[in-house]
Amino acid sequence: MRDYRVCLLPGDGIGPEVTRAAKRVLEALPLRFTWLNGEIGFEAYRRFGTPLPDETLEAILQADASLFGAVTTPPDIPNYRSPVLRMRQELDLFANLRPCRSVPNAQSRQGIDLMLVRENTEDLYAGAERLEEGGERAVGEMVITRRASERVARAACELALKRGFSKVTVVHKANVLRQTSGLFRRTALEVVRGFSALQAEEMLVDTCAMELVRAPEQFEVIVTTNLFGDILSDEASMLVGGLGLASSGNVGARTAVFEPVHGSAPKLAGTGRANPLAAILSAAMLLEYLGESEQARRVEVAVRRAIAAGQVTEDLGGSLSTDGAAEAVVERLDA
Ligand code: NAI
Ligand code: MG
Repeated sequence: MRDYRVCLLPGDGIGPEVTRAAKRVLEALPLRFTWLNGEIGFEAYRRFGTPLPDETLEAILQADASLFGAVTTPPDIPNYRSPVLRMRQELDLFANLRPCRSVPNAQSRQGIDLMLVRENTEDLYAGAERLEEGGERAVGEMVITRRASERVARAACELALKRGFSKVTVVHKANVLRQTSGLFRRTALEVVRGFSALQAEEMLVDTCAMELVRAPEQFEVIVTTNLFGDILSDEASMLVGGLGLASSGNVGARTAVFEPVHGSAPKLAGTGRANPLAAILSAAMLLEYLGESEQARRVEVAVRRAIAAGQVTEDLGGSLSTDGAAEAVVERLDA
């Protein structure tokens, strides 16, 4: 049996609780794990003077993949640099994956199974912003490169094939942003067209936002730039049950970090009421990344069974604790 090295990055607030729950599910599988641990977040800042110690980056690089909980962003520390952004940059985690799949719950629309792949390193988020005219004018740069567009499109296509999808939709705004979005559009479409098993489609971002609400079942894989992907992925997650279920992955050439989309929910921390399913579904994505597709499916199916049985936390209409909801998933792994 292969021994997988998985680095846990619990973080702050409910991060440690949901990460522990996901670890519990992983340990119930017929796989062998060696666990590494990394400090990250505001608690780490208080103890070590940095929210992302070098040792943490090293542990992530030593592992086959990492599972991250959540961090708290302190409101008023000048020069506090987000450890999440820094981690994505330093490790060059260039593709952000956000699956969005219907679950058997009243809060979820039915018939949806899509994967949104967002470019994670450039666009308006990497371009420098500046103030001009004594603060009367603010300017931001949207930076798009052929290299980043190509590799994220390639990642989206490879993922599509691996997960049995047959269509990739390139989302852009090239009718207005002719150079930036135009470069992304041309490059990504060329990559998708190079995969003969995949159907290439393109859509303007505003149309896509509308279509996600009108008829989300039409989408399979969506690939887009950083800003558009940020907005569309949050929109998409609300179609199928919201934050308690939204999982994600940050994938690069060297490693990958999986994480629930939600934050540290400080008010829930320590109450045992946090929903662990987003973290557990992120762990399923991690399994898929490790090549353990069958075990990934088992976890996903068990999560769906627990949801269908109402064996969930209160945000989804149940009455279980965080640990209880994780146990409900474990109990259904073989059912
Ligand atoms: P949040 O995601 O922590 O919470 C938003 C709302 O959803 C709250 O009502 C919370 O109780 C609920 N919620 C979140 N996760 C839940 C779960 N697993 N089960 C049940 N309910 C859940 O976002 P918020 O309140 O805006 O931010 C709190 C802190 O988290 C801030 O410091 C923020 O900067 C940070 N944050 C960190 C992220 C990360 O680590 N990737 C992402 C988003 C926010
Ligand atoms: Mg966001």
